[in-house]
Amino acid sequence: RAATDYQAEDATISQGTVASNHTGYTGTGFVDYTNTTGSYVEFTVSAASAGTSSLALRYANGTTTDRPMNISVNGTVVATGVSFPATTNWDTWATKSVDVPLNAGSNKIRATATTANGGPNLDRIGIGAAADTQAPSR
Ligand code: GCU
Repeated sequence: RAATDYQAEDATISQGTVASNHTGYTGTGFVDYTNTTGSYVEFTVSAASAGTSSLALRYANGTTTDRPMNISVNGTVVATGVSFPATTNWDTWATKSVDVPLNAGSNKIRATATTANGGPNLDRIGIGAAADTQAPSR
C-alpha cells in the first residue's frame, strides 16, 4: 500500500526552523535542525492497526559528517543513533528507513539529534507497511 506522508514543516519543532533555502524539498519547505544535541521534530501519525511499520525519513546532509538521530515512538527510543550520512550537498535528498512499532490510532514519532551538529535537514516522513509484512509485488 502507499505510504502516508507527513511534512516536517507541519510537525512540532523543538530547536529548529522551517526553511526553504535549498532545492528539492516537497511541501512548502523543510526543517533545519538547530546545530545542537537534543533538537527534534515530532510527528503525530495515525495507524490503522498496531504493529511494525516502516518509517522513511527524507533528509539532506550537505556536510561530510554523519548527523545521527534517535527515533522514539510515544516516548520510547526505538532506534538509537540512526545514521544520516552525507548526501553530496544540501540540494540532494536521500531516504533513511527504520522499522517502528506503532499503536493503533495516534502515535508520536520523534527524531532527535544526538550530536552537537544537530540533525540533517528533514523534508518529510512516510509511514508504510514494514518490508516483511508487505504483500509481494508481481
Ligand atoms: C547550512 C545549510 C542549512 C543547514 C546547516 C546545518 O547552513 O544552509 O540548510 O541546516 O548548514 O549545518 O545544519
